[in-house]
Amino acid sequence: MTVWLIGFMGSGKSCIGELLATRLGYDFVDSDVRISQEVGLSVDAIFSLYGSAHFRNLEAQCIAGLDTRSHCVVATGGGMPIYNALGAGVVCYLQADFEVLHARLLQDDLSRPLFKSKEALYRLYVERAPLYAHLAQYTINANQPPPQVVAQILKVLDQDKL
Ligand code: S3P
Repeated sequence: MTVWLIGFMGSGKSCIGELLATRLGYDFVDSDVRISQEVGLSVDAIFSLYGSAHFRNLEAQCIAGLDTRSHCVVATGGGMPIYNALGAGVVCYLQADFEVLHARLLQDDLSRPLFKSKEALYRLYVERAPLYAHLAQYTINANQPPPQVVAQILKVLDQDKL
């Protein structure tokens, strides 16, 4: 069983995913990290050298390369479920308010190709938020600190009888 964490940049998918995988005793895959390691370049460098369409293809290959029958938590890149269909499993949307996400991204050292200005980020947020909600079985309040977010996910997964 694969647990997919989806959501906007800064929603905590990587951090929550790692904690959740530890709690469940599952493997953990961070799609951005996996792609970056395979290509040998940062996500930012892949975008600027090869373009966004190429990155979306790499994301599709990453999904195809995952064995969704294994016990795994996948932290997806923010655009992954928007551009590509995810594999089988449970999809949890880490939903956070725009101002919370923006503040977190300002504090994060990681350079993100799609975070150029607050205005552009907001437009993307408004466009994507309903899509994430539509794609997920569960919407999780990710404005809270990581332990609380993990607890919420464990609760809904327990209902799903993993
Ligand atoms: C993207 C989000 C990033 C990364 C890439 C594109 C997006 O991942 O995959 O910069 O389209 O929202 P995070 O959501 O982990 O920042």
